[in-house]
Amino acid sequence: MGLFSFFKKEIAIDLGTANTVILHNDVVVIDQPSIVAIERDSGKILAVGERAMMMHGKTHENIKTIRPLRDGVIANFQAAEHMLREMINMIDFKTRFLFPPALKMVICIPSGITEVEERAVKDSAEQAGAKEVRLIHEPMAAAIGIGIDVREPNGNMIIDIGGGTSEIAVIALGGIVNNKSIRIAGDDFNADIEEYMRNKHNMMIGERTAERIKIEVGSAITELETPPDECIVHGRHMSSGIPKEIKVNYREIAECLDKSISKIETAVLNALDMTPPELSADIFRTGIYLAGGGSLLRGLDKRLHKKTGLQVHIAEDPLHAVARGTSIALKNFNNFSFLIR
Ligand SMILES: Nc1ncnc2c1ncn2[C@@H]1O[C@H](COP(=O)(O)OP(=O)(O)OP(=O)(O)O)[C@@H](O)[C@H]1O
Ligand SMILES: [Mg+2]
Repeated sequence: MGLFSFFKKEIAIDLGTANTVILHNDVVVIDQPSIVAIERDSGKILAVGERAMMMHGKTHENIKTIRPLRDGVIANFQAAEHMLREMINMIDFKTRFLFPPALKMVICIPSGITEVEERAVKDSAEQAGAKEVRLIHEPMAAAIGIGIDVREPNGNMIIDIGGGTSEIAVIALGGIVNNKSIRIAGDDFNADIEEYMRNKHNMMIGERTAERIKIEVGSAITELETPPDECIVHGRHMSSGIPKEIKVNYREIAECLDKSISKIETAVLNALDMTPPELSADIFRTGIYLAGGGSLLRGLDKRLHKKTGLQVHIAEDPLHAVARGTSIALKNFNNFSFLIR
């Protein structure tokens, strides 16, 4: 390791609506929910990531929790900058520094992002301490993370279902041939569950409880081969106002998520319809790759297979595929420089 690389540290960042993942030397060093807790009066940051998430939905007048990203882009610039700075400070670089290292960051961005939104990502990274900031498009990073050789003249379809957005992209020859981004993803599934619990069970639940229900019994189809056990839910009964316990099964959740999942299916069909025929032929052979936390929803792969007739593969580590791909691009900067802006 030269003296220069000793003082210079390179990190790959997936600044997601739901989670922020940071890799250094191909190792995940940060994997935290994208959330900040702030003291209202002073504006002081009380916590970020896991600790702030524990406060979410349980705050009192003087504390608020903010999710700095919405629909894949920065919605609250100041909170995003604070969150990034704090998370970078949490990284253990395994070396002691007399002064902060020069940080080079490669950050992935949704492919449908506007110039202003892109600038916000760069600015917040610079404010958080970056000396050099480069950007890469998320579908491309996901493909690299999945292990696809993106430079080959083969078409591949990648669907990244995150917290805020579902991105459907066809890539070939190192470029994005077509891309469809819809603002329906994991957050919307949670909102569907909250609404369902209100309407069907007369029960108010918070976002964190909805997330737990989704993980424990969430499903995209009503017939699962290995159904999960029912999930016990606690919330506030709407008419009496008293805390209550009920059981929820996967079939109910599959029904309540049906509308949102149908919208994702329609977007996938549109993207396939827009794909040039030679690339369609490739996708027929290779199938569809799923990444992002949303792809962990039970039966989603089966449902998409049924809808399209294509093979559907889930990335090995869907929650980290995009960040991993970003890290590979950073490490092999010369080979992937054409993808990095
Ligand atoms: N087992 C699971 N079943 C269903 N959904 C899950 C599961 N695990 C995580 N998720 C969902 O995945 C989403 C987070 O995925 P991911 O970290 O890929 O999103 P993100 O990159 O932060 O968001 P975006 O890409 O939209 O900015 C959350 O909505 C979370 O609830
Ligand atoms: Mg993402």
